[in-house]
Amino acid sequence: MSDAPEITPEAVDAAVADALAAFAAAPDTAALKAARSAHSAEGSPLARLNAQLRNVPNDQKAAFGKLVGQARGRVNQALAAREAELAAAETAAKLEAERVDITAIAPRGRVGARHPISLLQEEIADLFVGMGWEIAEGPELEHEWFNFDALNFAPDHPARQMQDTFFVDPVARHLVMRTHTSPVQVRSMLERDVPIYILCPGRVYRTDEFDATHLPAFTQFEGLVIDKGITMAHLKGTLDHAAKVLFGAEAKTRFRTNYFPFTEPSAELDLWHPTFPGGARWIEWGGCGMVNPNVLRAAGIDPEVYSGFAFGMGIERTLMFRSDVQDMRDMAEGDVRFSEQFGMVV
Ligand code: PHE
Repeated sequence: MSDAPEITPEAVDAAVADALAAFAAAPDTAALKAARSAHSAEGSPLARLNAQLRNVPNDQKAAFGKLVGQARGRVNQALAAREAELAAAETAAKLEAERVDITAIAPRGRVGARHPISLLQEEIADLFVGMGWEIAEGPELEHEWFNFDALNFAPDHPARQMQDTFFVDPVARHLVMRTHTSPVQVRSMLERDVPIYILCPGRVYRTDEFDATHLPAFTQFEGLVIDKGITMAHLKGTLDHAAKVLFGAEAKTRFRTNYFPFTEPSAELDLWHPTFPGGARWIEWGGCGMVNPNVLRAAGIDPEVYSGFAFGMGIERTLMFRSDVQDMRDMAEGDVRFSEQFGMVV
């Protein structure tokens, strides 16, 4: 090589000094790698000086070899030291950046609570599902025919009047906010094959006052059984069982005569509440009866072959007695502090 450097102590010292300066100036391992290829790898001034050793006269080879060898040793040592220093600094910076303060209090949102009406609705559904019944549903915006006509309400029945029912504009479409869950009886009879054993929990609407014992939107659960040979004894047994599951072994039910267009005979249903605060007592719980043959006929079921029973109760009222809630408005207002008192189980 024409530009082959001559080995002199000055040239060797200069190459070492350049290398050490470059290593010291490298701010990180990437820069140090570049400095290493420039100052100690193949092609670097020091490497080229080393290559010249073979041109040195034999009698001087040992001395020059030592000179260059020591220089390379110093350079490699400096490189290793700087490498270790930078690696340690980088590890420390990384650890600092990824530091987790295990003593810090993690930010937490409030957990909230399930609404007691939802919980009780599920508990009631479970009780009937446990007897092999199915859960049925229907729309809250209902056709007048399902809400009234098919349930044997006469065209002039007072419940149809504007003061009880929310009619939805335009009135000519005959849509109402369902006033009870009983239209699901008819829907179920039309959609399902007999025998039918269904429970329908759901929201209903009436133009009632919003006060301690009335809500314009509330929840009911409707039961319907259609089978051969169903009698009022089956209805009574079913309701007594439901009362005991929900209110304890001492609970029972009684019937008082009443009238509903869609049941015949019909009964007002009272519940014996054994643990009522202030003493065990009878409480009005809902309505029930044997499905009126006119309703069976409207749904295409032969009343000569099949009979059935139905019942309907308010879930808010049930919660009121069961958990001693004084004011129903608490169930509608959605204050989580009310719901929290019930935990996850009513
Ligand atoms: N639908 C009736 C009401 O809301 C209750 C009821 C249901 C009565 C089923 C008889 C049979 O008052």
